[in-house]
Amino acid sequence: MARDAVLQVAGLQTHFFTFGGTRVVRAVDGVDFTLREGETLGLVGESGSGKTTTCLSIVGLLPRAARIVGGAVVFEGEDLTRKSQRELRRIRGRRIAVILQDPMASLNPLFTIFRQVAEPAFFHQRLRGRSLRERVQSLLRAVRIPSPEWRMREYPHQMSGGMRQRIVGAIALAGGPRLVIADEPTTNLDVTIQAQYLDLLKDIQRDTGVALIFVTHNLGIVAKMCDRVAVMYAGKIVEQAAVRELFDAPKHPYTRALLGSMPKLGSKEPLYSIRGQPPNLANLPPGCSFHPRCPDVMPRCMTEEPRDFRPGDGSVARCWLLGDVLARP
Ligand SMILES: Nc1ncnc2c1ncn2[C@@H]1O[C@H](COP(=O)(O)OP(=O)(O)OP(=O)(O)O)[C@@H](O)[C@H]1O
Ligand SMILES: [Mg+2]
Repeated sequence: MARDAVLQVAGLQTHFFTFGGTRVVRAVDGVDFTLREGETLGLVGESGSGKTTTCLSIVGLLPRAARIVGGAVVFEGEDLTRKSQRELRRIRGRRIAVILQDPMASLNPLFTIFRQVAEPAFFHQRLRGRSLRERVQSLLRAVRIPSPEWRMREYPHQMSGGMRQRIVGAIALAGGPRLVIADEPTTNLDVTIQAQYLDLLKDIQRDTGVALIFVTHNLGIVAKMCDRVAVMYAGKIVEQAAVRELFDAPKHPYTRALLGSMPKLGSKEPLYSIRGQPPNLANLPPGCSFHPRCPDVMPRCMTEEPRDFRPGDGSVARCWLLGDVLARP
């Protein structure tokens, strides 16, 4: 493992076992990526492609029906898939933070902002009294909450949506994490607030060197926020590349379709209007999972699953088309 790798996910497989285990949904089916200090990885792909399940697998927050059935999640040199729930809880409070789409789901409506932001500093850093108050205020200041000394006495319902999300950000930062996983953190925010929040995350990252996994449906946000992008389709990363590379020279037909479906500025078109339906993860098509929808499908795509091909520019794509190009003399 490279010295500055914060997180290395290797061959991760997470399945849902539903209907008493008779139906197996391969939500995450062999995912590999590495995240370095200060780096942001964007995770994109249609609804149901396994982005959230990948994130929840990393931090051990999977719903009951789901289980990691293969692979490793190596965080700062330790495989998290081998940790107990108790150990994972400690890691989540401190070294890995998770920011979810709905801030209200992460905030307790009955507790003041102070109490919620103070909790990690109280338990993990053992701060009390004035130093605890100062710590909370500085965290709130870091996420641009105005007049934190007053605001911290309020309750979540007294905050705007954007403020709540920033409070969740303050709680996430309280433990001084090395990795932040943000799953569509701005989906419920309006565009201006969203832009402010993204700038804030970038500032925090510059100041702290934290690594970031950023899940989004919005490729514009990816272009702005991310260093690398992983494109998921049916539980697999079908292409992974530096952000410029991915936008300038997408290698997988699915990535090309996603980029082609990017709505024009100001348009109200739905995202990702790619022809056909995503596959049923409990009954995947043979060969390449994307073949029934692929504009460039070849006979072997229908029977043989493509492996990862590396054209040598640091990108990886799972597509026979790329395999053929690379095989040419
Ligand atoms: N509790 C569950 N029980 C059974 N299957 C589930 C459950 N939660 C998710 N899945 C399945 O796992 C697959 C991956 O879901 P996941 O939520 O990871 O997708 P996603 O990429 O985050 O989608 P979205 O963009 O809509 O958030 C989906 O096909 C979904 O149907
Ligand atoms: Mg999701």
